[in-house]
Amino acid sequence: MPIIKLDAIDSTNRYLRKLTNEEVVKDYTTVVTKHQTNGRGQMGTIWNSESSKNLTFSVFKDVSKQHIEYPFHISIATSLALIKSLQSFSIPKLSVKWPNDILSEDKKICGILIENVIKQSHITASIIGIGLNINQTEFEGLPKASSLKLLSGRTFYLDEVLDVVLKNLKYYFNILKSQDYSNLKREYEMYLFRKNKPSTFKDAEGCVFSGFIKNVSVSGNLRVLLEDEIIKEYDLKDITLLY
Ligand code: BTN
Repeated sequence: MPIIKLDAIDSTNRYLRKLTNEEVVKDYTTVVTKHQTNGRGQMGTIWNSESSKNLTFSVFKDVSKQHIEYPFHISIATSLALIKSLQSFSIPKLSVKWPNDILSEDKKICGILIENVIKQSHITASIIGIGLNINQTEFEGLPKASSLKLLSGRTFYLDEVLDVVLKNLKYYFNILKSQDYSNLKREYEMYLFRKNKPSTFKDAEGCVFSGFIKNVSVSGNLRVLLEDEIIKEYDLKDITLLY
């Protein structure tokens, strides 16, 4: 499995996407850079990361021989791979803030941006972009961000962490290949941030409301228990958890 190491690039996701347009890319091809000049986050945001301190990488996952009914399954497998990796480094109180922010306590340590390659209305591959905060200790203007070093006091070798994450991605994508979706979803829900706790949300119109996160639907919507025992499903663009 090729690992392409770049000193600097605008975005590893963008680089890998371009590569897939130019040549046949092998499964699990990984692009990692020391410095990302225009890192992309979810919903059009920017991902900033101090040079050489963190992991910013993208993995090409070929799913052309599988039928991926719900893209969210790719998110589940990726989130669980990160949780398992961080557990192996004894990072405490790990959770997944739906859909795929990895938190320790209530601090974000990892962001995931999955971009699917779609051919004839089927997902043939995914570009899985991962920004994992490792040895950075200052996050100006980001009070809810943290890193493995801040949480553990240790300095990490970036290559060692990358190896572990790649190994765990393979582990969970093999489970996905075996179509054991219900177990994957169950395991993912075990780590859902603020599950069954009273929480405050904002909807797309800016209205603030309270509810309890219960679980996720098969397609990946967040299911929230509202007043009068009503459970409502929300898509990513329709709800923000305030915490
Ligand atoms: C988020 O908003 O939480 C997702 C952040 C994803 C950042 C990673 S860093 C490597 C890869 N390349 C990008 O441009 N973005 C992802």
